[in-house]
Amino acid sequence: MPLSLAALADDAAGCTRCPLAATRTNVVFGTGDPDADLLFVGEGPGAQEDEQGLPFVGRSGQLLDRLVHEELGLTRDRVYIANVVKCRPPNNRDPVPEEIAACRPYLESQLELVAPKVVVTLGKFAGQLLLGSKEGITRLRGRSYPYGGAVLVPTVHPAYVLRGGAEPMAQMRADLVRARLALREAGSPLAEAVPAS
Ligand code: URA
Repeated sequence: MPLSLAALADDAAGCTRCPLAATRTNVVFGTGDPDADLLFVGEGPGAQEDEQGLPFVGRSGQLLDRLVHEELGLTRDRVYIANVVKCRPPNNRDPVPEEIAACRPYLESQLELVAPKVVVTLGKFAGQLLLGSKEGITRLRGRSYPYGGAVLVPTVHPAYVLRGGAEPMAQMRADLVRARLALREAGSPLAEAVPAS
């Protein structure tokens, strides 16, 4: 395992382990508190993330920020945000298994170095990867799972929530409340932030 997130980010910046390296503008390594008790894992960068080199800065990210603020009372500087793949799949297609496998060591090292108490996976790819499951997200979500010494809470992807309907929104809110309870049970001070809703 690398010694620091900064060293790992440096390494990722020059990564050519998969074909996404050829089409990316920036590697989107991850952002936030390097000691965060709460870590989110998304799928992969979209167009705006690729341009800025930061995760979840487009419409999905705005929704994520809002719901995290409303349900947990937290801003993104108090959590850590990473993705399954660090480079944008062209035309926002799904990442393929070879890309996910090539990028996996970066995510695993991020999880080891940040050592969060609670991990929230956003959408099918992150949930399936970290749980080693082939189940769809609607089957995986709705409960917490042990994950090493941490607790893993799978939820839907904010892009799915943005596509509409009250149900996905209610699911994501309920899962964030579940994450807050897990933070409280783990004795994290993040659980004491006051939800804004
Ligand atoms: N969707 C993701 O899964 N990750 C991002 O960083 C942005 C959008």
